[in-house]
This record gives sequence, structure tokens and C-alpha cells, in this order.
Amino acid sequence: MDEQTLKISKIKDGTVIDHIPPGKALRVLSILRIDDHVENSISIGIRVTSRRLGTKDVIKIENRDLEKFEVDKISLIAPDATISIVSNYEIIEKFPVELPQRILGIVKCSNANCITNMKEPVQGEFSLLSKKPLLIRCNFCERTMNEREITASLI
Ligand SMILES: Nc1ncnc2c1ncn2[C@@H]1O[C@H](COP(=O)(O)OP(=O)(O)OP(=O)(O)O)[C@@H](O)[C@H]1O
Ligand SMILES: [Mg+2]
Ligand SMILES: [Zn+2]
Repeated sequence: MDEQTLKISKIKDGTVIDHIPPGKALRVLSILRIDDHVENSISIGIRVTSRRLGTKDVIKIENRDLEKFEVDKISLIAPDATISIVSNYEIIEKFPVELPQRILGIVKCSNANCITNMKEPVQGEFSLLSKKPLLIRCNFCERTMNEREITASLI
């Protein structure tokens, strides 16, 4: 049993989001719209010791699945995160998040004059240019957005 396992108790059924960059767990929670109204039981480890990563954040949410658009949004904040699905205390499925090549409807273009920001908005659509450093480009106005801009513009 490692240090982190001792710190955070097991869940019966739900989702573990592991290998989140240190300090980013709160942003992942906001992506999942987890606030004071949510009734699921949730454990959050911030800057916990990781053999592999030095420190990391980890989130364990009881009785909650993730939608694909949520996993896509998490990949923009935590590109090396691992998602595990827990059922009856066992991991029944585990997969790394993956940055999508086409990013649809989850980021708002940072160019105020972009057609996607006009009165009758068009759904935002970006192409992945680079993973490290993270860069995406708007398919409508060609504006390139970096990690900081993407983080500030998640829908
Ligand atoms: N029943 C459970 N409740 C809560 N968390 C769990 C449960 N079972 C496993 N986990 C957590 O899920 C994550 C993945 O579990 P796993 O056993 O695959 O870890 P690992 O061997 O450290 O793998 P990795 O190489 O991904 O770090 C870990 O953070 C682990 O603590
Ligand atoms: Mg581990
Ligand atoms: Zn644009």
C-alpha cells in the first residue's frame, strides 16, 4: 500500500481521475460542475506524493460516470490523466484521457471578432496543433490558443 492509498479511502462504485497535474484538481472539479450542491461523496488529493510523478492531484467520485465531452475537457487541463471506473471496489475499466484531434463545442474562441462569438453563435471548432506545448487553432478564424488561453476559455 503506498502513501496515497493510505490518505484516500476506497470507493465502492464510481470514477477515479488520477495523475492530474499538481494543483489542477479544483479546475477538473469545476469542469465536472462539482460544487456545494453536488451530493456525491468525493475525495480530493491535492499535491499528494506519487512515485511516478513526484506530486499529483487525484479525484475519486462515488456514483458518477463521465461523459465523453467531460473527458475531452479534462484532457485539455490534465493531458496525462488516467480515468478508472470502479465497480464493487474493483477497477473494471481504466484508460488514459486523450487530446481529441478536433475539439468541438468545449472551448470558446479567444478572438472576439470570430464568427463563433457573433450574435447567433456557431459551435466552436478547433484543431489540435501540438500536444506539448498544448496549442489548438480555431477552424473559423485560425486564431491559435495556448494552454493558458484554453484554460480561461473552457465552456
Ligand atoms: N476501490 C477504489 N476506490 C478508490 N480508488 C481506487 C480504488 N481502486 C483503485 N483506486 C485508485 O485508482 C487508481 C488506479 O488504480 P491502479 O491500481 O491501477 O493504480 P496504479 O497501480 O497506481 O496504476 P497507475 O500506473 O495508473 O498509477 C489509483 O489512484 C488507485 O489508488
Ligand atoms: Mg499509481
Ligand atoms: Zn475563432
